[in-house]
This record gives sequence, structure tokens and C-alpha cells, in this order.
Amino acid sequence: MATRLHILPEPPTPVAEAAIQAAIAYDAVGEDYFTYADGDGRALYDFTSRYSYADRQIWQQIDAALHQIRASGRRDISLLDAGCGPGTWLLRTVRRAHHLGLHVRQARGFDISPEMIRIARENTAFQGDFHFEVGDLQLALPEADASVDLTLCLYGVLNHLPATTHAAAAKELARVTCGHLFTTVRTVGSLPTIYVDAVEKARSFLQDHEIDQFDADLDDGRHISFTSHLFCAAEFRALFEGHVQAMELTGLDLFHSRFSANPRWNPAKLPYADAFEQALCKLEERCCCDPAFMDRAAHILLHARCAG
Ligand SMILES: C[S@@+](CC[C@H](N)C(=O)[O-])C[C@H]1O[C@@H](n2cnc3c(N)ncnc32)[C@H](O)[C@@H]1O
Repeated sequence: MATRLHILPEPPTPVAEAAIQAAIAYDAVGEDYFTYADGDGRALYDFTSRYSYADRQIWQQIDAALHQIRASGRRDISLLDAGCGPGTWLLRTVRRAHHLGLHVRQARGFDISPEMIRIARENTAFQGDFHFEVGDLQLALPEADASVDLTLCLYGVLNHLPATTHAAAAKELARVTCGHLFTTVRTVGSLPTIYVDAVEKARSFLQDHEIDQFDADLDDGRHISFTSHLFCAAEFRALFEGHVQAMELTGLDLFHSRFSANPRWNPAKLPYADAFEQALCKLEERCCCDPAFMDRAAHILLHARCAG
């Protein structure tokens, strides 16, 4: 009787495993992630959600960059969104570019999650200009050197990559950009997040810093598990050093999330709400570039200028 040879399939490499886990998690949450991150997505520039302080700060800087590009006499622009999720940031940027009279030569968004790409396509259907596809930031980008005027890589994308791939990903983002590069990461000192939805949706969760792994059991019985590397400002800066001409780092949301009302506890409105909000904004401005505070912000925004 012939002996049958059992050839075991190769286990996925850590890099492939990280991509698979992120894709599974974001595919599973789908539209819920879109609602969590962007509300109903219709009020593109109305940053009023519980987590919107950081959105406002990021948008101010992107908007200023678009104005600067237009003021320099440029008539067209090329855009890239790495880890675009539901595509809202690319949609915002394209709409504002049009409004400023810039022709959008290319607006490419890619994400490891096919479901995020489906939602991004649906959200931008009939609006021309967009090209969304499944792609992995751990691999080389197809864009030519210095071919993108404004590159985005926002909210958690780099956190989901294994630390061994951060340097190569940062180098690739800088290589393809010939203008502005905006990227954010979650910090080691931030408040807990479950990335894919509001933190109250988790029954339990655990961030393991030894192996950069995050696990959560959600209220609806689902389990999510993926790479989560939380950054220090110095580490984030070092990734881009030598690859970009100049960069500024800003700590985003040092105080707002910590003082945001909890719908299960606080009354809808507390006294002195407006004065308190003004004071918080002043505190954010005063501390956002202080190294002692930056590692405790919810996110760090890196705005780099790349050579053309
Ligand atoms: C928190 S979401 C942010 C989405 C979007 N940038 C935004 O700000 O709305 C993180 C995104 O990173 C994507 N992602 C994770 N690992 C990735 C990888 N290796 N390559 C591309 N996208 C990835 C996830 O699928 C998810 O859509």
C-alpha cells in the first residue's frame, strides 16, 4: 500500500499574519467602523462627535496645505491615502481640492480590508477621480518616486503593522511624496481604545506590549485580535528622519477625551460648558508640543515636507 505524504502548509509569516488579522477585524466591523469614525459621513467638515477634536486639528493642517499648494500657482494635484478605511479623509481632501480649483490627477486609497474598500467605493460612487483598492502598506507602493503631492496615513494604520516593518513603511510613504505627508499614530500614554469601535462596545480587552498584540471580546460576542504597537513621539520621529526634508509633531487630544462626557454617567450638559471648552483648547495648544505631554496624547500627528 502506498504511503501518503502529508505536506503541511507553511504557517503565515508574522507580517502576513498581521495583515490577515487586521483585514478580518475591519471586515467584520464594516459599516460600524464607518459610523464610529465618521458619524453618518454626510457632514464631512462638521467635526462634532465625541472624538472629533483630533479630526479638527488634522483637517486644519491638511486644509492649510491645500491652500498653500493652490497659492503656489499649482493647478493640479495627486493624492494618496494609505490605510484609507471607509475613504472619508480622501473624500474630504478631494472635495476641498476641487473647491480651491485644483484638478485632481489621481486620488488613490488602499486598505488591507476588502470591506473597507467596498464602503469607500460606495461612499464615493459617481464622484469620479477616486481609485480604491485592497493593498498592504507592508509591501512596496506602486507609486513612482516623488509622484504624490499629498499623502495621508491616518489613525491606527501604522499601529497595526509589526514594529519590524515600520521603518520600511515610513521610507515608502516618504519616497512617493513630493509635498506634504500627514500621518498619525496612537501613543503609549493614550486612553484605551479598541480601534474598531467605541471602547464601551468591549466586554473586555487587553493590550500586550511584550508582543504588540491586542485582543478584545465585544458585547455582541465577537472576538477581535490584531497587532497593536503604541508609539512614543521620539520613536515615531526617528522613523521618518533622513527621509523627509522637515517635519513637525503635534500631540492631539491631550485633554478632550479625558474630559468628554460619558453618556452612561454624566448629565447631558454640565455648567460652564463653553468656558470649559475654551480652557481645554488653550491647554491643548500650550502642551501639544511639550515632549512630556506628547507621549500621553491620544494621537501624534506628523506633518512632513518631502523633496520634489
Ligand atoms: C483605525 S482604521 C483608520 C482608517 C482611516 N485611515 C481613517 O482614518 O478613517 C485603521 C485602518 O488600517 C487598515 N490597515 C491595517 N493594516 C493595514 C495594512 N497592512 N495595509 C493597509 N491597511 C491596513 C485597516 O484595515 C483599517 O481600515
